[in-house]
Amino acid sequence: MASENLTGEIRKIDEAFQSRLAEAKDAPSLERIRTDFLGRKGHIARLFETLGEADPAVRREAGRLLNELKNRAQSAVLGEAARVSAKESGEDRPDLTLPGYAPPVGRLHPLTIVMRRVKSCFQKLGFAVAQGPEVESDYYNFEALNIPPGHPARDMQDTLYVSDRVVLRTHTSPVQIRVMENQKPPVRIIAPGRVYRRDTPDASHSPVFHQVEGLCVDEGVSFADLKAVILAFAREMFGSDMTIRFRPSFFPFTEPSAEYDFTCVICRGKGCRVCKNTGWVEISGAGMVNPEVFRFAGIDSERYTGYAFGMGVERLTMLLYEVQDIRAFYENDLRFLGQF
Ligand code: PHE
Repeated sequence: MASENLTGEIRKIDEAFQSRLAEAKDAPSLERIRTDFLGRKGHIARLFETLGEADPAVRREAGRLLNELKNRAQSAVLGEAARVSAKESGEDRPDLTLPGYAPPVGRLHPLTIVMRRVKSCFQKLGFAVAQGPEVESDYYNFEALNIPPGHPARDMQDTLYVSDRVVLRTHTSPVQIRVMENQKPPVRIIAPGRVYRRDTPDASHSPVFHQVEGLCVDEGVSFADLKAVILAFAREMFGSDMTIRFRPSFFPFTEPSAEYDFTCVICRGKGCRVCKNTGWVEISGAGMVNPEVFRFAGIDSERYTGYAFGMGVERLTMLLYEVQDIRAFYENDLRFLGQF
């Protein structure tokens, strides 16, 4: 071969190598390319022989080109072989035996859990669930509950006013009136929901919290019925060893009125920090529906009697799960919420 054609010949072999390599799709075809080009009697070896006969003027440059081609061809064949074997062994496919990713799962808020339990306890006792608005008129929140304007009992609850005669309900008791206006006795309802008070947040106060109101009106309903229902609830919620007690109190909408306590849920009555060593924890207020309230609601207080009670859902939840600070319910800290 004429030496002036040597570099052209190297280029042709290079191009042939590239196109053969591009078509190689398995190990045997790669092996054929390797022998054809890089083998002892391959194209590149043949060109090296030609190099010895070449004109010294071109030998230097052609030698450099040829060495470069040889090295490049060797690593290209190796690289392609690795790719082909990975493909054949399936290494480039997803590994279906790997464990999957667990998507984060949401949970019920502790207040939702307890609210649902409270509802189901009372539903078993024959109570229906009623609702009323959170933005409430002064009439339902106060007046019809026998709390007239200027009455000192309004100071018991620090009210958030929307306007002169409209408030954010300070308790769920207005639902009592709304239900009695629309339903003749017998009435047996609970009214769960949010209530609002102008309180500065601390470990035991929140400007928004939840209550469940209870109301039962029928002929011959007595305080004994109230006690029986509260006791049944306490035992269903916290265990059959629960006892309850009533202490005289005052609410304008009940007469007589009481505050009721449960056996301390934490120490079961022995005395601890939570119950301040009394063995009792205060739950909420209750009493017999004041005849004045029946008058506002249009119910004959000569014929019917009734009892009403409230309960604080945060308080029940804090006792049940031993939560120390009411603010934990509203901070949406997933480390807290993930525990229920
Ligand atoms: N509404 C009262 C309160 O929020 C609780 C209560 C309800 C008392 C029903 C008596 C009867 O404190």
